[in-house]
Amino acid sequence: MMKVLVVDDDAGIRLSVKNSLQTIDRFQVDEAFDGINALEKVKVGAYNLVMLDVDMPRMNGLAALTAIKEFDPTIIVIIMTAYANINDAVKAVKHGAYNYISKPVKSDELKELVNKALAAHSLISEAAASAPQLSTENGRKMIGSNAQMRKVFNVIHRLSKVDTPVLILGASGTGKELVARAIHLNSAQKDGKFVAINCSAIPENLFESELFGHEKGAFTGADQRKIGKFQYAEGGTLFLDELGDMPLFMQVKLLRVLQEKVFTPVGSNREIETTARVIAATNRPLEAMIKDGKFREDLYYRLNVMPIFLPSLSERRDDIEQLVKNFIYKFNKKQGKKIIGVTPEALSLLKKYDWPGNIRELENVIEHAFILEEGTHLTVSSLPEPFLIATGVELSAPNLKVKYFNEIDENTAEQNEGDEESIRSEEIVTISGESLDFNKHKEAFEREFIVKALKMFKGRINQTALHANIPKKTLLRKIEKYGIVAKDYSE
Ligand SMILES: Nc1ncnc2c1ncn2[C@@H]1O[C@H](COP(=O)(O)OP(=O)(O)OP(=O)(O)O)[C@@H](O)[C@H]1O
Ligand SMILES: [Mg+2]
Repeated sequence: MMKVLVVDDDAGIRLSVKNSLQTIDRFQVDEAFDGINALEKVKVGAYNLVMLDVDMPRMNGLAALTAIKEFDPTIIVIIMTAYANINDAVKAVKHGAYNYISKPVKSDELKELVNKALAAHSLISEAAASAPQLSTENGRKMIGSNAQMRKVFNVIHRLSKVDTPVLILGASGTGKELVARAIHLNSAQKDGKFVAINCSAIPENLFESELFGHEKGAFTGADQRKIGKFQYAEGGTLFLDELGDMPLFMQVKLLRVLQEKVFTPVGSNREIETTARVIAATNRPLEAMIKDGKFREDLYYRLNVMPIFLPSLSERRDDIEQLVKNFIYKFNKKQGKKIIGVTPEALSLLKKYDWPGNIRELENVIEHAFILEEGTHLTVSSLPEPFLIATGVELSAPNLKVKYFNEIDENTAEQNEGDEESIRSEEIVTISGESLDFNKHKEAFEREFIVKALKMFKGRINQTALHANIPKKTLLRKIEKYGIVAKDYSE
């Protein structure tokens, strides 16, 4: 579903633009009558596209454009302008509008422009939206279609309805903190604070005061009264990260708080009641620690009522593609780039790797690739060297050839005719490491072939399918598989 907002002070123009756009599949079109009204609607409406008039009372189009982009830079804005105001339209494009169209707006021209604008954009945002996911704060999404992750989402929903303590177990970088935040955000405590404390970072002698606070003069150096984290988290959630590193004497005290819902600040004789919800996480093997006398069994059972186990990324490889798309979406926003996907070669390496650092490591690898990549897709050669070495890709010349091949693939297929053709087939066989993987080369060839055919027939699917002798359904499936945007070849 694409949500479009048409902004113009002239009701007649709003109606005609709306009528044209509504003939496009899956478009929902709303109207606003000036800049201020537009901004109000944009803030609540989750629009993908805004069609914006320039000359309007109260707030004009240029001011509205700035405010809209400030609110969400990924919203696409197309300016509608009378010929006399063409200078304003050009200015608007410099300030982040996608393009402009002149009034009176012609229906065909409008549809073509809108389709073009949305094609590249939708690839990423739709993919991100179609995955099963859970919202966490700042619109951050938790991705997971994998069966184990679906169970996790289920437990998170159930835990959000109650206020029992929670224990989250999983290796480093598997998303423990994100899960804790998701539970908080979906719970009755969501309006309270989420207070996180890392148990491995607190010196043993300050632990009690850190959690429960202390009175002035309670111990040497306590020259002022101090509020503890339990009190900060009152009405909200206290997240005890790296619980396995909590000293034994504190474990006893924590158990008491969980059972009696009261604590006593250091140096005080006054008990304080608490309603803070406790969520704890660790990557340490608590059961083994219990056997070694390093973790208290009673605390473990108190916390372990409905535990959450987060699988390692290597146990949920089926989520890798979706996670990568999610991070592409995130880093496009953060770094202001317009990368629309990942090449099949790079994706297959990402799926093959073992990911000892789990999702955090994957996120770092994608961020690194983002910095290096100047094209439209993340390619093998934009991936960090240590990652490539770990996946067995040879680094020197062969790797460059992979890059060369991808670039031809994306951008210059048309210019590489005649002689270049034979060079290219040579490149394919000399990509080393993976040189004899038939499927990989078949995919690379298919993608290149389709791009070329689409260029030849100006992005028209029916004609391309007919002349290239591919069933239309197959062609559409492959276009989707390879992240090709047919509309890009429409002129
Ligand atoms: N399911 C997910 N979907 C999208 N992003 C995720 C998901 N899980 C984790 N992340 C991201 O991966 C990174 C690591 O997650 P997080 O900090 O929650 O892991 P952790 O288990 O607490 O790691 P550590 O044990 O090292 O503290 C974060 O940037 C987080 O946003
Ligand atoms: Mg963590």
